[in-house]
This record gives sequence, C-alpha cells and structure tokens, in this order.
Amino acid sequence: MRIIVAEDREAASECAADIVERFVRSQRRASLGVATGSTTEALYAELARRHQQGGLSFAGVDVYLLDEYAGLDPDDPCRYCSVVQRALARQVDLRRDAVHCPDPDAPDLEGECCRYEHLVRSAPIGLQILGIGSNGHIAFNEPGSSFDSVTRIVPLSEQTRSDNAGFFGDGRPVPELAITQGISTILAAAELLLLACGDRKAAAVAQAVSGPVCEAVPASALQLHPSATVILDPDAASRL
Ligand code: GLP
Repeated sequence: MRIIVAEDREAASECAADIVERFVRSQRRASLGVATGSTTEALYAELARRHQQGGLSFAGVDVYLLDEYAGLDPDDPCRYCSVVQRALARQVDLRRDAVHCPDPDAPDLEGECCRYEHLVRSAPIGLQILGIGSNGHIAFNEPGSSFDSVTRIVPLSEQTRSDNAGFFGDGRPVPELAITQGISTILAAAELLLLACGDRKAAAVAQAVSGPVCEAVPASALQLHPSATVILDPDAASRL
C-alpha cells in the first residue's frame, strides 16, 4: 500500500486528481468507480477545473457509484446519484448515459443488487475512488462486513447515520438502509485510491493502514489489494 501525506487538504485533492487524470488520459474507454461524501467533493471540483481549464476529457469514461441510499424520493438531492451528477457529471463532458448506480426504487431489490454487481464486475473498474467513514467503513460496508461481501442491501450504523446527518439538514432523518457494493466487489478493481482528510478520520485511517486486517475495520481490506494508494492530509495522518 502506498501512503501519501499531502501538505494540506487542497494538496491532497490535487494529488488524488493527478492519479485520476493519469488514469483517464491513459485509456480511450475507462471505467472509473466513484465515491460520495464531502471529502471527494473537493476532488471532483478539482477534476472539473482540470476539464474546464486543462482540457481533461471524460468523454470516454463511464462512472460507477459505490452505493446509494434506499427510501429517498427519486428527485431527492441527497441521493448519491444526484450528488455525482451535480458534483462531477454536469461539470465535465461525461456522456449522459455514463453514470451508473444501483436503483433503490427497483421492485425487486435483491435482483437489482445482482444486476449491479454483474454490471460493475463486467465493467471492470480500472480505478476505484474511495473515502472512509469515521468508523472505518468503505462505501456502506459497515464494521463486521465480510471481506467476501458483494452488492447487497445493508442497514446503516448509528455512527454513519449521525456522521451523514449534516447532508440532510433541517432534521430530516438519514435513511436506515442503503445498497452498497461489497468489499469483494471493491477489491476487484484494478487500482484503489482512498482519500481521507481531517482529524475525524485519523483513528479509522490508522486502523485501516497500520492495524490488523480484520472485518471490524472494513477499510483494512485495502491492505490485501496489490495496487492501493491512500492520500491523506496531515490531520488524517496524525495517528499514523
Ligand atoms: C459515506 C459514503 C462513503 C464515504 C463516506 C465519507 O458514508 N457511503 O463512501 O467514504 O461517506 O464521507 P465524508 O467524506 O463526507 O466524510
């Protein structure tokens, strides 16, 4: 595992953007796995800037979301699909049909999980962008998730629901369920890139990169991957 500690939060986003840019420029058709959350929003803003000012094109890219809340209205701005549309797709030249996500409104949710798992596996993902939860989750694989897990419906932990409450504002409840790629699905990507900033992530980062590989810390699965890069700001790296 390669660990890079950048000078600050902005430099961490730029460093992550360098890796994404290299990946996108290296192939004519690319499958990019995308995460949501405040940390990756800065990365997407930097990619949008490079598109607008540096000619970085996403025309040959397909993006695949890691996860999606269940139980929100189709037009709810908190849906991860809307977040990726807003933060990345509409800011760059991604094709209209290039954003792929699990559909939480499908009548047969189990079937939808299988469909999405198959779609992601057959993409296959060349570079997967990841964030980390303060409890060590990746995507919505909460502590205790099996490293063999695939795309499925999961309950969200109280910690995650409280961490994500800020996105919902005005006291709206955070959904209790989500669809998430499994840890095995994520590990199948050719390359992983985890971005973490802020001292709220320091303990989880330390456990993930230098603690034992165990299902209690889902992000520790990255230690099993042959090509994983972790980019941190000094606060997130403070317990290493
Ligand atoms: C959510 C997402 C994760 C993401 C995490 C971190 O829980 N499902 O994929 O890693 O948020 O979010 P933030 O960057 O806002 O801390």
